[in-house]
Formats: sequence, structure tokens, C-alpha cells
Amino acid sequence: MLDKVKELIVEVGYFNASTKEELETFRIKYLGSKGLLKDLFAEFKNVDADLRKDFGQALNTLKKTAEDKVIELTAILEKSVEEKTIYGDLTRPSEPIELGSRHPISIVKNRIIEVFNRIGFTVSEGPEIEDDWHNFSALNLPEYHPARDMQDTFFIEQNPDILLRTHTSSVQVRYMEKNQPPIRTISPGRVFRNEDISARAHCIFHQVEGLYIDTDVSFADLKQTLLYFTKEMFGKSKIRLRPSYFPFTEPSAEVDIYWGLETEIDYRITKGTGWLEIMGCGMVDPNVLKNCNIDPIKYSGYAFGMGIERIAMLLYQIPDIRMFYENDKRFLEQFKSII
Ligand code: PHE
Repeated sequence: MLDKVKELIVEVGYFNASTKEELETFRIKYLGSKGLLKDLFAEFKNVDADLRKDFGQALNTLKKTAEDKVIELTAILEKSVEEKTIYGDLTRPSEPIELGSRHPISIVKNRIIEVFNRIGFTVSEGPEIEDDWHNFSALNLPEYHPARDMQDTFFIEQNPDILLRTHTSSVQVRYMEKNQPPIRTISPGRVFRNEDISARAHCIFHQVEGLYIDTDVSFADLKQTLLYFTKEMFGKSKIRLRPSYFPFTEPSAEVDIYWGLETEIDYRITKGTGWLEIMGCGMVDPNVLKNCNIDPIKYSGYAFGMGIERIAMLLYQIPDIRMFYENDKRFLEQFKSII
């Protein structure tokens, strides 16, 4: 009898419960009104007189051990409930870190850079705050030249020589001033024009400029490069060059790509013609080369410039240019899968 009680003391000592229910079952088993201890105390009178002292002590120990166990485990279980409600389940895998997405302008810019990198163009950049020389005069747009009105310029009031560049062509000038041919460079960047904001136009937008200067560069080289670009960028292989005018190129052209007329959207964006204008280009005017200390007899070259927003709008069918600048997460999140 005594041995059995001693065994029970050990058993109770080692008992552990992971839920309140388990603990309650334990409590009822030992300490309940019909529990083991009750039965054992009832046995007391049957125990031989000389063993009663030890048996009584052992029973008291068992009772105390069981009661302490209940108190101890109740405290532990309550604490873990508390921890769970504060921290949640600490063994759960953590929440995945939410990745941001690249801005569609960056995605398109990087793609353009990548396409031209493959044929030997390197990236160059220039300042957004420019002087008159780099934005206009050196590009064959002397003061009072009527073509200055082609782009509405933000001037700094105190000093009309300082302005926000209206195009990335200013980087052409800066690059030629510092480098002699052969030159193959593309210059992405932000440009500024004092224009009313609408679905199609904004006062801040992005361009990519291309410049290629070497001996014997011809218009055919330009056309071939443009064809390569439109194939890589849009998967379209039909382009046309319409005569145009830019003061810094001669001859100048506007590049259209044949987009097709397969869907209703094609009709809408090409205004029913199937053709889309995507950039301006031309052979660098000899005056511009001269202004940048490049010998126009020895060298010739071509330049082109395109708006990144316009290309992004075409590629992703974005109906309003303002969406690029609103930082609306619902818009930006749609570009998550594109790098
Ligand atoms: N700079 C012109 C524009 O902003 C584009 C262009 C660049 C045209 C280079 C010809 C050559 O519209």
C-alpha cells in the first residue's frame, strides 16, 4: 500500500499537461470528490497501526504534490495563453516580406537601355537644370530662333540663362563636348515643359536620347538601328520615317511603327490608321557637331529621342499619363511580375 502511494508521488511529480482539459482530468483523478486521494484516505483505517504514521505522511505528501502540481500547471498554461494572444503562435512560419514593384517608367527605361546596350550603346546622363547653351544654342537654336517655341520652357526667373531642360538632347551636347567619335550613347532622363496637364501630356516626363557619331554614318544606319529597336521592343518589324523638322538634325524624321489593326484598342490608339508615332530622329546637323568641336567633314552621325511614358502607355495599355505620377498602389502593384 505504502509502495503504491510512493509510486503515485513520483508519477504526480513528473506529470505535465499541455492543455487546461488535461490538467482538469488530472485534478479530478487525484483531488476530485471521487478521486484517488479520497479512496486512499478511506483505506487509512485498514492500515496496520505501526504503518499508519508513514502511510499518513506519504498520503499528505501525495496530496500536497498533486495540489502544487495543479497550481503550477495552471499558472504555466495561463501564461502561455497570454503569450499567444500577445505574440500569436511563436512556432508559426513568419509572414513573407512583401516586395515592392518597379515603376513602369523604370521597367521601360531599363528595357530600352538593355536593347541598345546589346549593340554597343552606353548610358550617359546630364543635369536636369541646364543652361541655354546646352538645351538650345548648341543645338542650332540660337536666341530668337522661332523653333524655341516648339517646347514651352520653364526658365529660372532671376536668370533666364538657367532653365529646366526641355529635352534630353542637351546631353548630346554635353557628351560630344567631352568625347570624340566614335560615340554611341543613350541618355535617359527627366525633362520639363510648361504644358497643361492632361491625359496625354504632363509638365514632367521622361525621354531617352540616342546619339551615334563616327566616320561614314548614313541615314541607312539610322533606319537599321530603329528597325532593330522596334523589333526588340515591340515585336513589330514595320516602320516608316516621315519627313519632319528639328533644328539639330538634318534631314529629320518622325518614326512611326505599324501597330496593326487587329483589336478595337488598336483602332483607338492608332486613330484607325494602324500607325503609331514613337520618336523623332535625324542626322546630326553639322552645325551641332561644330558647336561641340567635332569635325563635321570627317564625322557624321544620327540622333533620336523618344518619350518613355508614351512607350510605356503603348506597351501596358495605360490610358492616362497622370497614372504614372499618382503613386496609387493599385496601379503600381500591377507591375509586380515584371522586372
Ligand atoms: N529632342 C526632340 C524632342 O524632344 C527629339 C529628338 C531627339 C529629335 C533627337 C531628333 C533627334 O522632341
